[in-house]
Amino acid sequence: MTPERWLLTGGAGYIGAHIADEFICNDKSVVIIDSLYQGLESRITFLRAKHGLEIPFIKCDIRDYNEIESLIREYKIDGIIHTAALKAVGESMEKPDEYFQVNLEATNELIEIAKRNGVKKFIFSSTAAVYGSPDTMDPCKEDGPKAPISPYGDSKYQAESKVTAFINTPGNHGTSLRFFNVVGTAAPELLDNSVENLVPIVLGKLNKGQAPEIFGTDYPTADGTCVRDYVDVRDIARAHLAAADATTPLPPAMNIGTGRGASVREIIDLVLQATNKTQTEVIKSPRRAGDPAFLCADVALAKSAMGFTSKYSLEESIRSLF
Ligand SMILES: NC(=O)c1ccc[n+]([C@@H]2O[C@H](COP(=O)([O-])OP(=O)(O)OC[C@H]3O[C@@H](n4cnc5c(N)ncnc54)[C@H](O)[C@@H]3O)[C@@H](O)[C@H]2O)c1
Repeated sequence: MTPERWLLTGGAGYIGAHIADEFICNDKSVVIIDSLYQGLESRITFLRAKHGLEIPFIKCDIRDYNEIESLIREYKIDGIIHTAALKAVGESMEKPDEYFQVNLEATNELIEIAKRNGVKKFIFSSTAAVYGSPDTMDPCKEDGPKAPISPYGDSKYQAESKVTAFINTPGNHGTSLRFFNVVGTAAPELLDNSVENLVPIVLGKLNKGQAPEIFGTDYPTADGTCVRDYVDVRDIARAHLAAADATTPLPPAMNIGTGRGASVREIIDLVLQATNKTQTEVIKSPRRAGDPAFLCADVALAKSAMGFTSKYSLEESIRSLF
């Protein structure tokens, strides 16, 4: 039987490269496209060497619709995993039009191309940012309030509705996966190279001999710092495999997290321990606008719909970085 062939947008990115790794380990074939705006070709070089495979990689912008349509025809694609996006929340405030163009319009066009070419499967990278800044201390449920506070979150939330319309067509399959805070790595070559997440930010500061900074120490949490749900990137990849292999229809969107919260202070302490820098001073700064005290996933739906639960502990995720 020929293996299922997936087009993986953003496959030179942090999460996309981990999904490629997981899919290849599970006998699926992947064709990667990425503009290399943030992605690294070295991640694909690493995956090719690891698996002894000539993984097809095409440097291409997801807004180059003609090229994408010809690739889908040329490679006879069965499904699309769409991770390519702009993901910097702060930057999205400055460049909202670009964020809506890349994250919403291009997703919509990709779905139209999929429909025209008989591609029946579509799995979309969404985000906890669709929930905005909830003022409760309860885990977010998929059908709870959605109130994105940035063009980034809004562009992803609106894109989800395009994916939902696609998967509601009989014969189609897929979902939007709402990742919480992604951490960890399967290999040093696949490390997160962006500065959007807490752990890379703290490591970046430590590498430059600077003190890590906590924004807000007076939240109504156990240690006064914000609590988030940190999920290992290898679990994110496993969730994609579970979604791809699901034989029953999936809910339109599912949280992918651990269901356990960790505070900013706890994360910084774990990184300081891992780097033997426990004596490092930590700067306490005022709260930042829009940061909720608590943002964690209710993970029941992913478990009941596709049997997915996270496997890696936070300690394992942090250890994987060193
Ligand atoms: N990392 C997280 O904590 C997190 C959390 C929630 C959701 N997400 C989502 O997961 C997905 C992957 O994120 P990541 O952390 O791997 O980020 P990343 O920046 O490492 O990966 C995104 C990839 O998309 C590529 N890309 C960007 N614009 C493109 C374009 N116009 N055409 C083609 N390629 C383009 C980039 O070059 C990059 O390789 C994104 O959709 C992001 O919104 C990430």
